[in-house]
Amino acid sequence: MAATVFIARETVEGEPRVAGSPETARKMKSLGLDVIVEAGAGELSRIPDGEFEKVGARIGSSADASSADVVLKVRRPATAELKGYKPGVVVLAAMDPYGNDAAIAEMAAAGLSAFAMELMPRITRAQSMDILSSQANLAGYQAVIDAASVYDRAMPMMMTAAGTVPAAKVFVMGAGVAGLQAIATARLGAVVSATDVRPAAKEQVASLGAKFIAVEDEEFKAAETAAGYAKPMSAEYQAKQAALVAEHIAKQDIVITTALIPGRPAPRLVSRDMLKAMKPGSVAVDLAIERGGNVEGAVADQVADVEGVKVIAYANVPGRVAASASLLYAKNLLTFLETLISKETKDVVINAEDELVKATMLTHGGQVVHPNFAKKEG
Ligand code: NAI
Repeated sequence: MAATVFIARETVEGEPRVAGSPETARKMKSLGLDVIVEAGAGELSRIPDGEFEKVGARIGSSADASSADVVLKVRRPATAELKGYKPGVVVLAAMDPYGNDAAIAEMAAAGLSAFAMELMPRITRAQSMDILSSQANLAGYQAVIDAASVYDRAMPMMMTAAGTVPAAKVFVMGAGVAGLQAIATARLGAVVSATDVRPAAKEQVASLGAKFIAVEDEEFKAAETAAGYAKPMSAEYQAKQAALVAEHIAKQDIVITTALIPGRPAPRLVSRDMLKAMKPGSVAVDLAIERGGNVEGAVADQVADVEGVKVIAYANVPGRVAASASLLYAKNLLTFLETLISKETKDVVINAEDELVKATMLTHGGQVVHPNFAKKEG
């Protein structure tokens, strides 16, 4: 029997995104699936229920989750939501699995086949399923917009009859997906520099016309994992990095930090002393606050005054551009979902041998099955 897909309305406060879009709902219908959208699910992403209805989806309530074979969500389902799901349901979401063992065990006990979309491997086949990339890209853009909006000066150099406004100096720390987009966005006139611990970042930063600043020692040359992520750096490297950064930051107007290491707390890159050395009215944007933050003194969802610097640390930055973020996120989920649907029966078929399934499936058949999160025997 054709699978029923339920697009849920998010229940977490401050989450305006939605896991489906009219485009993805239409595609699911054309694949032969039944699609139910919880009323108001797209409201905060500027998608009225009527847009989903137009493409053949049915508008329902949270109770309809109980008939779903697949639930699409932005955030991991809460305990109350789990109670409404049928055992064996496939749930695709950003599960935030690290450090949340109890929540994962609960999903296993509820019989979910829960897939953590953020664990999608970074291989060519899965590029269009990569929620970290699609959301980080928008976060990097929004970080610059947020910084510019509280910065009391102009970003570009302006030579006018009344005098010259100097260009703002922007320093981006962590030149991954978010950082590279921040660099590109800051080119609205700022003089941009950037740092990272991965040597591959050097060329990417330069190709965007920004200056690369880093401690390029032997450790730096080996700082990238096979998966393309940063490794935690030694205390010795961190000290050298801090010294270089301290000197550079003192001359900057805006610092944007994006440094993350999967499954670990974010590295602390900007200290209170470094902020103190910046000019009055400087701005710092911490995109790593959900993992503890890169900037000392950053407070989630606040623009904090730390030593005269405005430190912006929104916990859900993609949610600040929700209408764009949801469209990309929805597409990421759909592309993965297509691999889980049998072309013949239109039903869910999980191939446990598929590398995408192996990498992302957290719970199945009542067990926590992912090797990184399953309880080890003995
Ligand atoms: P991320 O979000 O895990 O981290 C952000 C950045 O912070 C990374 O560039 C990381 O090297 C950097 N960082 C970590 N610790 C640091 C420290 N102490 N000091 C300075 N910087 C530090 O990484 P993200 O953005 O997800 O991307 C990682 C890499 O994966 C990038 O090279 C990206 O281009 C690549 N990538 C590849 C894809 C594919 O092949 N399908 C898809 C998406 C990204």
